[in-house]
Amino acid sequence: MKIAIIGTGYVGLPSGVGFAELGNEVVCIDKMESKIEALNKGVITLYEEGLEELFHKNVKAMRLKFSTKMSDIEGAKIVILAVGTPPHPQTKEADMRYIFAAAEELAEYLQDYVVVANKSTVPVGIGKEVKQIIAKANPKADFDVVSLPEFLREGFAVYDFFNPDRIIVGCDSPRAKEVISELYAPFKDKSTLLFTSLASSETIKYASNAFLSIKIHYINEIANFCEKVGADVQEVAKGMGLDKRIGNRFLNAGAGYGGSCFPKDTLALSLMAEKQGVSLELVKTAIKGNDERKKQMAQRITQAVKGIEKPTIAALGLAFKDGTDDCRESPAITIIQELLKENFTIKAYDPKAMNVAKEILGRSIEYANSAQEAIQQADVIAILTEWQEFASLNLEELGKTMKHKIIVDCRNLIDKDLATKLGFVYVGVGR
Ligand code: UGA
Repeated sequence: MKIAIIGTGYVGLPSGVGFAELGNEVVCIDKMESKIEALNKGVITLYEEGLEELFHKNVKAMRLKFSTKMSDIEGAKIVILAVGTPPHPQTKEADMRYIFAAAEELAEYLQDYVVVANKSTVPVGIGKEVKQIIAKANPKADFDVVSLPEFLREGFAVYDFFNPDRIIVGCDSPRAKEVISELYAPFKDKSTLLFTSLASSETIKYASNAFLSIKIHYINEIANFCEKVGADVQEVAKGMGLDKRIGNRFLNAGAGYGGSCFPKDTLALSLMAEKQGVSLELVKTAIKGNDERKKQMAQRITQAVKGIEKPTIAALGLAFKDGTDDCRESPAITIIQELLKENFTIKAYDPKAMNVAKEILGRSIEYANSAQEAIQQADVIAILTEWQEFASLNLEELGKTMKHKIIVDCRNLIDKDLATKLGFVYVGVGR
């Protein structure tokens, strides 16, 4: 079937490529001409493991097209909205202007029956508003609006697209249900397709992200406790995770959660609830605790270099997590900004996020071409992002190139026993 996707960001582009790979005819539409120009030239505009290969394959097969023109939605059975909903600069609530503008603009081109599926994360009730906007802009349009929340993780978007735990659809129309069932027919045997009301579906998205944020905040608090009582949070998490009710994922203690989703969605959910007279105390605690977490990590590094004159810090990792070049709300960036207040020299390296980070940090820090280069002549190695390649650094050799042998491992990546054996002062998280 023909599918149009509005927005070619971290949600829109992998989804477009994924649906094309499933055999659909996909057109991805974006207002940013430079992006569409690049995509049409065969240049992929964001990094996702495995995406580029599928992108080229489907462009070649003529199943995947890119356009700046909204009129290209014509003939689509489904129009997927995947535009940004960043926090509003003043109110911090999810900003709906791009969704509303897209809804109004697409209305004009609706001819035969179309399902408008909203994949952007939107406050509960927005689905209904989108429906009203389209109906007002084009009273003759034959359409339904459904909520199709996205659960892809950045860095694993391709894997997650083809292996979803669940597909949630907020839908109150049997006709739309049929179209969505056809779209997800290839997943029939490996995933649950759950139909709910629009409001429930919109809530599931926020409630899931907030739950995972709370889970991370919880394990970070337990890590603090472990440090005091001589327990090891990794052992504790492993033991907890064996209970299927708890599950072993999202129990990695570290520098706090970041990215374009958890910080934004926890805040939006908390504000939405406040408006309804409901106080989500756990969510609020996670938000506050996570902000503090990043500062605590910076303090840990400051403490580790106490007494060293003009210390140099090898900051390993800039992205908000591994597998991506995204630095939005990255704990690594916040930690570096905190350290800059101390006038430390910072030499940073990230396998993918150097260019993106340079746009944020500019000339305030130095950039290395490799982890090894960042570490040379440094006083401390600070592991800030969970890139697996940092787990296999040759510490014995690298230690010889350092001024002081200190590691502050904010992601528990390094083998503590080995580091200690090699003469490093090792500071981890919760162990
Ligand atoms: C998150 C959700 O996992 C996706 O399901 C959802 O679709 C997405 O938000 C979204 O709303 O669009 P993402 O932001 O890509 O995905 O990243 P995660 O892999 O969830 O990681 C978020 C943050 O939590 C990262 O900073 C990561 O380092 C941190 N984290 C994660 C931990 O500190 N500990 C963990 O055990 C797991």
